[in-house]
Amino acid sequence: MLLKSIHIEGFGPYHEAQTVQFGAEQIIGIYGPNGSGKTFLLEAALACLYESFPSRKGTIYSHLGSPKGTIEVSFELDGQGYRAMRTVQSKPQKQEAHLYCDNQLIAGPKTTEFAAEIEKLLGPAGSALACIFSAQDSAGDMINLSPSERKELLASWLGLEACSRLAQGAADKSKHHNMRLEDIDAHIKAMEKEELRMPEYVAALKEKEEQLKENAQTTCETNKQLQALYQEKAGIEEAVRRIKELRSRLEALSREREELKNSYTRTSNRLEELEKIIRQKAEIESKARKHTEIVQEITATSDVMQKLQKEYQAYQGTKSRLEEKIHATTKNIAVLKSRLDSCRKQASTIQEVHCSRRDCKFLTEAWKAKDAITIISQKLTEEEQRLAHETLQLKNLGQPPAIEPVLSKMKQMQTAAKELEAYVRLAAQLEAAEKNKQHLAEELDRFIIKGREKAAEIEKISASLKEHAKVTETSALIEKQVSLLEERSRKLSAASLAMSQELGEIKARIQATLKIQQEIAMQKERRGKITTEISEYEAIARIYGKNGVQPLIIDAATPELEALTRQFLTSICQKNFDVSFMTQRETNKGKALRETLDIIITDLATGQKRDIANFSGGEKVLLSQAIRMAMSVFQAQKSRKPWQTFFLDESLGELDEVNAENFLRAVADLTTWFRRILYISHTPNLTLQAQKQVKVENGTLSHTAALN
Ligand SMILES: Nc1ncnc2c1ncn2[C@@H]1O[C@H](COP(=O)(O)OP(=O)(O)OP(=O)(O)O)[C@@H](O)[C@H]1O
Ligand SMILES: [Mg+2]
Repeated sequence: MLLKSIHIEGFGPYHEAQTVQFGAEQIIGIYGPNGSGKTFLLEAALACLYESFPSRKGTIYSHLGSPKGTIEVSFELDGQGYRAMRTVQSKPQKQEAHLYCDNQLIAGPKTTEFAAEIEKLLGPAGSALACIFSAQDSAGDMINLSPSERKELLASWLGLEACSRLAQGAADKSKHHNMRLEDIDAHIKAMEKEELRMPEYVAALKEKEEQLKENAQTTCETNKQLQALYQEKAGIEEAVRRIKELRSRLEALSREREELKNSYTRTSNRLEELEKIIRQKAEIESKARKHTEIVQEITATSDVMQKLQKEYQAYQGTKSRLEEKIHATTKNIAVLKSRLDSCRKQASTIQEVHCSRRDCKFLTEAWKAKDAITIISQKLTEEEQRLAHETLQLKNLGQPPAIEPVLSKMKQMQTAAKELEAYVRLAAQLEAAEKNKQHLAEELDRFIIKGREKAAEIEKISASLKEHAKVTETSALIEKQVSLLEERSRKLSAASLAMSQELGEIKARIQATLKIQQEIAMQKERRGKITTEISEYEAIARIYGKNGVQPLIIDAATPELEALTRQFLTSICQKNFDVSFMTQRETNKGKALRETLDIIITDLATGQKRDIANFSGGEKVLLSQAIRMAMSVFQAQKSRKPWQTFFLDESLGELDEVNAENFLRAVADLTTWFRRILYISHTPNLTLQAQKQVKVENGTLSHTAALN
């Protein structure tokens, strides 16, 4: 990393923005009075990158000289230009940091993101400060670190973190594998406990199989018995069915026999009737003949009756006509008499008025009436004669013909004929009866034969019924036996099923145990592999750990570090000193060795080995600066991304002028490894040896022009 510029504002005494740029010059001297802000300026570059001022305590907020501060640095790394900018605000406390690469933002504004990117580019703050920054108060100096911290720092320069990571990774793996091993052991133990039950399962399997076999035999026997009983039962059922059939046949036969009896009775009654008719033959024929005679008589009487009836009707007709005429004539007579009376009354007027004039208009009607009297009187006489004639005619008509005696005789004959009608019918049946008599007699014989047949069949069926009934007598017993055997068979089946299930369970358990045995074998094999892996990981952790290859690498590097330190000691010290780095020290308890990095200084003039604390102030400065430079160079050589800028703050304070100049020459030599060196000095002469001078006064900067 080659620093190109520093810009500061709002921190320490820098209330106004101040910027210093660097060009091609390699050595830059910074000078100014006490408290002017030199340390602030130098440390600002590191505060910008790592968020803290190396020689100052407290957070970055506590170094703000104004409410808000900004530090910006630009630098070159691997041919690329970077710009880092940090802004800090006190109330409320807030920070942002941006990192640009060739003007492209690559991290920020989050400070965590920025810090991660800076560490990736320039390494962690601790190792950077330890090798490139020599503070006024020696803060961050490797010499001030404890021996074990020094050793760790040296290890990190040598890239031994990779070994540590490898060792740690292997240790972690080993630990993880050990945990797995514990799990596997617990698993195997549990499985082995289960596996121990295998003989128990095998014995149970054998026992269950025996039981099942016995059960199967018993079931077989029971089923045979049951089959025999079923056959018997079927015979009984057949008998029952046959009984039913026979009974229904018996009933049919009884009905048929009953019908035959009825038919026989009817036929014999009919025969009896016919015989009765035949026995009455003479009487029937005589009465039938009598009937014929009466019928003939009735016919004759009926002719007489008809004639008499006609005569009677004629008599009645004449009588009623005469009576009608008499009535009419009587009526006419009455009318004529009335009219005659009326005319006589009117005609009497003529006599009363004593007028015989026919033309008297008052007597016209009377005259008319007088004239009518004669005519009416004549007509009346005619009518009275007619009435007398008609009355005589009626009288001469006499009595009507006598019809009643004939009618009575007729009725008597009809009654007699009716009474004899039955004999006529019987007479008509006589011939048929004689014919039927034979037929009915034959039919009766047939009925008797049929009846006998039915009776014989009934007898046979009854006998058969008795036989079948005997078969069914054992039915109840057989039923009971069947139900007992069936119950037994059911129980046997249930027991067999239960046993089969149990057998299945036992087999499943055996199967599971066999699997467990396989699993145990597998787990044991796995365990073996893991154990091998653990020992391999443990070996790796041992080899790459702090007690393995690492001390060897450090030991191998220390001669190089010692040589570099000697080189710087020779150039900056007039006195001859030698330095050696001890990487191991015996512990107080004796035998055990402790990892350390002791810096042992030997005064070559006296041959004394002394601790650095036991040298003069100036000597201490020289010695520590020589070691610091050697280490910086060593680190720069080892690092893949070396810092190319070196910072020194008031390192010359306690040196005499000669030593100071020697020291500055040695600093100049550093340009072999560093492209830029920034140093602070109170002595303007010493600053003048730099290629660029920066003057600091009350937080303001003035500097010589940059060399390009
Ligand atoms: N946190 C701070 N905030 C503001 N000012 C501070 C803070 N810390 C120190 N100062 C002051 O800032 C001024 C500059 O300090 P700095 O250490 O940069 O001085 P210097 O130039 O290096 O002096 P010296 O030659 O004595 O080392 C001093 O007056 C100091 O007291
Ligand atoms: Mg200072």
